[in-house]
Amino acid sequence: MKKVIVLGITGSIAAYKGADLCSQLVKAGHDVHVIMTKSAMQLVTPRTFFTISRNPVVTDLWETPDWKPEHIDLAEQADLLLIAPATANIIAKMAWGLADDALSTYHISHTGPVIVAPAMNFRMWQHPATQQNCKTLQKRGVIFVGPAEGRLACGAPGKGRFAPVEEILEAVGKSLEAKN
Ligand SMILES: Cc1cc2nc3c(=O)[nH]c(=O)nc-3n(C[C@H](O)[C@H](O)[C@H](O)COP(=O)(O)O)c2cc1C
Repeated sequence: MKKVIVLGITGSIAAYKGADLCSQLVKAGHDVHVIMTKSAMQLVTPRTFFTISRNPVVTDLWETPDWKPEHIDLAEQADLLLIAPATANIIAKMAWGLADDALSTYHISHTGPVIVAPAMNFRMWQHPATQQNCKTLQKRGVIFVGPAEGRLACGAPGKGRFAPVEEILEAVGKSLEAKN
């Protein structure tokens, strides 16, 4: 069944894989609204997500086409928030409830299920701060998919790879089913 999914894209080198994920979600019949961080836009362009999702991409908290801010407008419609890939930074901001850009502000405006697919260097993933932040979010009910083990963008093996898109889609399906 068609659902409204807010897809957060953050400044991980895996951001390009978010385009495939977006495409698969659209193919599955969902209405996908993308929010990108400034760092994500260093790696992939909003145009990619605009074309794939066929919806305007939110890149700036202050650029609102309507009187109602986008984070409030989307929060009233969304069935799921999926942040994939998720940086160590957004995970930390979510754990602490920070709201200093469009995506983090959206996160604390969102009331439904949240799925996070982290992607980062293994040192960033292993850092006690990241681990603690993930635990905080898990206790709050946030679902984590990955990260996977394997060859990382830096060339070294370790845990930190973006989970396979199929695994993320499976988690999305389960979460949407559970919500019904
Ligand atoms: C080329 C490049 C690749 C990066 N890849 C990652 C990554 O995979 N995961 C991560 O957590 N941070 C990564 N970073 C660092 C983040 O982009 C940085 O922490 C940034 O502040 C994240 O901002 P955001 O969470 O608002 O997108 C990378 C930085 C650079 C320059």
